Amino acid sequence: MSQEEKTMDKLIQELKNMKEKAYQGGGEDRIKAQHSKGKLTARERLALLFDEGTFNEIMTFATTKATEFGLDKMKMYGDGVVTGWGKVDGRTVFAYSQDFTELGGTLGEMHANKIAKVYELALKVGAPVVGINDSGGARIQEGAVALEGYGQVFKMNVMASGVIPQITIMAGPAAGGAVYSPALTDFIIMIKGDAYYMFVTGPEITKVVLGEEVSFQDLGGAVIHATKSGVVHFLAENEQDAINIAKRLLSYLPSNNMEEPPFMDTGDPADRDVKDVEQIVPTDSAKPFDMKEIIYRIVDNGEFLEVHKHWAQNIVVGFARIAGNVVGIVANNSQYLGAAIDIDAADKAARFIRFCDAFNIPLISLVDTPGYIPGTDQEYKGIIRHGAKMLYAFAEATVPKITVIIRKSYGGAHIAMSIKSLGADLVYAWPTAEIAVTGPEGAVRILYKKEIQASSNPDEFIKQKIAEYRKLFANPYWSAEKGLIDDVIEPKDTRRVIVSALEMLRNKREYRYPKKHGNIPL
Ligand code: HXC
Repeated sequence: MSQEEKTMDKLIQELKNMKEKAYQGGGEDRIKAQHSKGKLTARERLALLFDEGTFNEIMTFATTKATEFGLDKMKMYGDGVVTGWGKVDGRTVFAYSQDFTELGGTLGEMHANKIAKVYELALKVGAPVVGINDSGGARIQEGAVALEGYGQVFKMNVMASGVIPQITIMAGPAAGGAVYSPALTDFIIMIKGDAYYMFVTGPEITKVVLGEEVSFQDLGGAVIHATKSGVVHFLAENEQDAINIAKRLLSYLPSNNMEEPPFMDTGDPADRDVKDVEQIVPTDSAKPFDMKEIIYRIVDNGEFLEVHKHWAQNIVVGFARIAGNVVGIVANNSQYLGAAIDIDAADKAARFIRFCDAFNIPLISLVDTPGYIPGTDQEYKGIIRHGAKMLYAFAEATVPKITVIIRKSYGGAHIAMSIKSLGADLVYAWPTAEIAVTGPEGAVRILYKKEIQASSNPDEFIKQKIAEYRKLFANPYWSAEKGLIDDVIEPKDTRRVIVSALEMLRNKREYRYPKKHGNIPL
């Protein structure tokens, strides 16, 4: 268009055409290919995430500056990623959504700049970032510049860590270093299905290097990462489900580390009894029970957003509301490994505790654990190093910390679930609580080693001593007499007790020595 031909109408029409072209991404055929894999496009995903009509796109026309391999002729508006902000349930949220239809959603310099821009703005205003990943990884044509781009994104992930919540949705492939931006964020939601996978090294190279044959899904599918590796926090049935999980998660989180988590009037009475809760716990402490049943009954309307639901199930972590206030729950589940704490459980709990602490979410511990798991497998893998993370995380946390000992609470695990000396603000126990350095069987064999050897009837002797030991320690009163328990409560009062404690602790302030940062055992 020459200068003299320009009219406002024409200029606006030109803009409209250009925007239309940008919205088409990689074009009709590639959109069809995307849909044929069961995947939505980058923009369709954002439309599901944001409240209708609230999305503001930025850097819509940005394209690659690279010229190698004919990239200058393949330039596409957006450079493989749609970026901007909008409202999710009325609250400001930033997002980037990689567009697989443009250059395979690959990351080059401009693509990285766009993601960094979203982070810069999100950090300035204190709002969460949701990243929707669907990409062939580093853009090969842009060489080391693409790798610099990843470095830029990783750095933004780290700068934002603990300042604004970061949620990643895995909505396509992720290979090589591309998996590390998701890994640096707070939560990964991954969709089930052949089109979605993430691994550092794919099946082809695995075969060449190790001679090991494995499918894409068995190596890096959503189910594997949600159950075995613990990389994925939430398993989504499909694309819509992934977005729903992200929205539900956001509803529990403050927008940044300077805000309180969002209060919501749930309508569930603060002072109600926890109905029939005492019937869930068998008085025979050798019998397992489902701790989640207790959680559902304590929290508002039974709503509990479990994190890492399918991994390290011997510990349960997640978000709920109690009298409208968000809490983070850490609980043992004796249906798995008898609720003993292993490496994965310690990692899972420690990361969750630190997230809650960073974002002002009070912590509730519900305890029923016989201890850390013994044996060569766990010792060789470093249960000492990993188990220490829970101790570190609870001791470091300055948010309100309330512990309720439901049943077993033994040894190092008793401490790791948050006790007074480690910094718990209030520790309660049910009448079913058992609190001791170690379980009766082990304790008796150590304390009475010589007597057992000298006894004419060692079995009877051991039985008698176990009964004596249990009488002394298999109750909450010995510890309560020593001032280690703030009160022994009736199970039905648990919600009321937590509500009052949370209310009292609302303005809790606790300070730490100034330091650059601590050195959590990793
Ligand atoms: C440039 C790429 C690309 C890449 C895909 N494309 N990956 N272009 N660089 N890394 C392009 C394709 O050429 C194609 O372009 C379009 O994206 C779609 O790709 P297809 O192969 O047709 O799609 P599909 O069959 O679904 O396979 C998807 C895929 C595969 C599994 C992701 O493309 C693939 O294996 N790509 C390479 C993955 C990879 O090795 N990436 C580097 C990882 S290392 P057209 O024009 O035909 O649509 C890494 C380092 C990060 O990322 C380092 C951080 C520290």
